Amino acid sequence: MSLSQCRLDRFISQNLNISRRAVRLMLAKKRVRVDGLIASEIGQIIDKFSVIILDNAILQANIPTYIMLNKPTGVISATIDDKHKTVFDLLNTAQIEGLHIVGRLDLNTSGLVLLTDNSRWSQSLTLPGKKVAKRYIVTLENKLTDQYITAFEQGMYFEFEDITTLPAKLEIISDHVAQVTLVEGRYHQIKRMFGRFRNPVVKLHRSSIGNLHLDENLNPGESRVLTADEVNNISKNTGN
Ligand code: URA
Repeated sequence: MSLSQCRLDRFISQNLNISRRAVRLMLAKKRVRVDGLIASEIGQIIDKFSVIILDNAILQANIPTYIMLNKPTGVISATIDDKHKTVFDLLNTAQIEGLHIVGRLDLNTSGLVLLTDNSRWSQSLTLPGKKVAKRYIVTLENKLTDQYITAFEQGMYFEFEDITTLPAKLEIISDHVAQVTLVEGRYHQIKRMFGRFRNPVVKLHRSSIGNLHLDENLNPGESRVLTADEVNNISKNTGN
């Protein structure tokens, strides 16, 4: 259980200053709802963004923050740094409190970075089993060939981690530009994969995560809050 999580009975007993036995009775009488559903388990784990309602009284309804940023190159995906500007330096100060980065980009990679204070949501995008697609536009020093498509699809063995990369989709856009779709995020993964062909990455830009595309109206360094639809649909299977 993470620090921001706790048991439902503990939360209600502390919130209303009543015994856990009294909480159990409330639950038995179906008086408590968590995220719209009647709660029956006293041990149910809740977090700071679970909406808790007793009868018609709201005990907790915190509103999470979700932000998309168009990260420029030269900005680091970290909270603080001595040398470089961080993604947090680009946000309005009022927005920063409690936020974390959902899937970092390298210093010299640009594009879509998400920030939130809702770890349940970020985990739904980043846990390995979730396989949320991340799309990158990659500019290469040398010419691409069809061999790359097969190699990316087959996966590559990374000795350091002792893993084989999951099938990745490479689409050739022009001689030196490809769109790559990954469902995982290994350290420097794209650069290492093109490294197998001794083909240095000249430019790397993340254009989408799941169903969410970087807003074309955002200039490098600009950010905006996500809409409710964007938050809810980002990892929905659209059949594409
Ligand atoms: N792959 C990389 O090599 N770098 C990134 O920033 C993202 C994917």
